[in-house]
Amino acid sequence: MSSAIPISPLAPEILTGLQRVATLFDAQLASDFPAVNELCRYVERYRGKMLRPTLVLVAGLATTDDGTPLRHEHDIIAATVEMIHMATLVHDDVLDEAAVRRRGETVNFLRGNETAVMLGDYLISNAFHLCSRAGDPALNLRLGEVTNTLCEGELVQLSRRHDLSLDTETYFEIVRRKTAVLVGAACELGARLSGASTADVAAWRRFGEQLGVAFQIQDDLLDLLGDEATVGKSIGRDLEKGKLTLPMILHIRGTSGAARTAALDAIDAKDGAALRAALTSSGAIDRARLQAVELVEAAKRELPTTRRTGARELLIELADRVVARDH
Ligand code: FPP
Ligand code: MG
Repeated sequence: MSSAIPISPLAPEILTGLQRVATLFDAQLASDFPAVNELCRYVERYRGKMLRPTLVLVAGLATTDDGTPLRHEHDIIAATVEMIHMATLVHDDVLDEAAVRRRGETVNFLRGNETAVMLGDYLISNAFHLCSRAGDPALNLRLGEVTNTLCEGELVQLSRRHDLSLDTETYFEIVRRKTAVLVGAACELGARLSGASTADVAAWRRFGEQLGVAFQIQDDLLDLLGDEATVGKSIGRDLEKGKLTLPMILHIRGTSGAARTAALDAIDAKDGAALRAALTSSGAIDRARLQAVELVEAAKRELPTTRRTGARELLIELADRVVARDH
């Protein structure tokens, strides 16, 4: 686990919690077939920063007083959201024809699309099997809604590929669905399992969703501006696959004449360097960055009152890191 939990009085409890989550995760995926185990062990590298399970645990702790332990259900939901996330990444790399993730070769690159699709299915199936073990149908219902929404986001994104008329409103709706709803559910369910009020559960969800949108804007900026060695995954895939991201949309809709034409030509020619130059000079990259930072600030304002010593500071630090990260 590459993650770095910020220095906090809560850090030891969260790290111990994440170890329990990793154990649950591995046990759930264990198969009688060595070939299946080998693949699962391979993609466990995708469990990088563990942002989503961390949010389940922190929201759970923040909602209770010092000394109150987390419930086993928190661990189950933390492992479930991470497994859902991993399933989506395995499938996403097929769609994006990506060769690198978390500094290693993707399953589709190593074993082909058929294996990657089936492995993603195995992960999503196991995620819901694991969730069922919590014995609360409301959790399955909520996470089922989340995965439906997530797939809708991807389907809308696919339907708008190479569409230069994509507006920011549609971009934000795609991103909310494909990325943010899962982050929102992680926060919401962590708090709900600790007995948060309906109003607080809704606030946790808004906190997570705004953070999730900021996370995806940063991800899109890294895809446009980063280098593979630092980011640790295939970059330039958005341009390659005709996905218009926020800086591109801001530029297309905010410029005219030669500046606009330069970007449209660069998109058409899939010329990353020319596109970066156009979007930098128009200020579209800075504006996209600013929107991500503003979303993080808005997310922080949603945080309900926390009861656990250090929880608020930890959440603020985690939120700031979403836009400060370079991988
Ligand atoms: C990352 O996008 C992709 C997602 C956040 C969601 C992907 C979802 C699917 C492919 C649907 C699969 C659904 C289930 C239920 C298995 P990105 O390509 O911008 O991010 P990246 O830079 O990490 O590749
Ligand atoms: Mg991708």
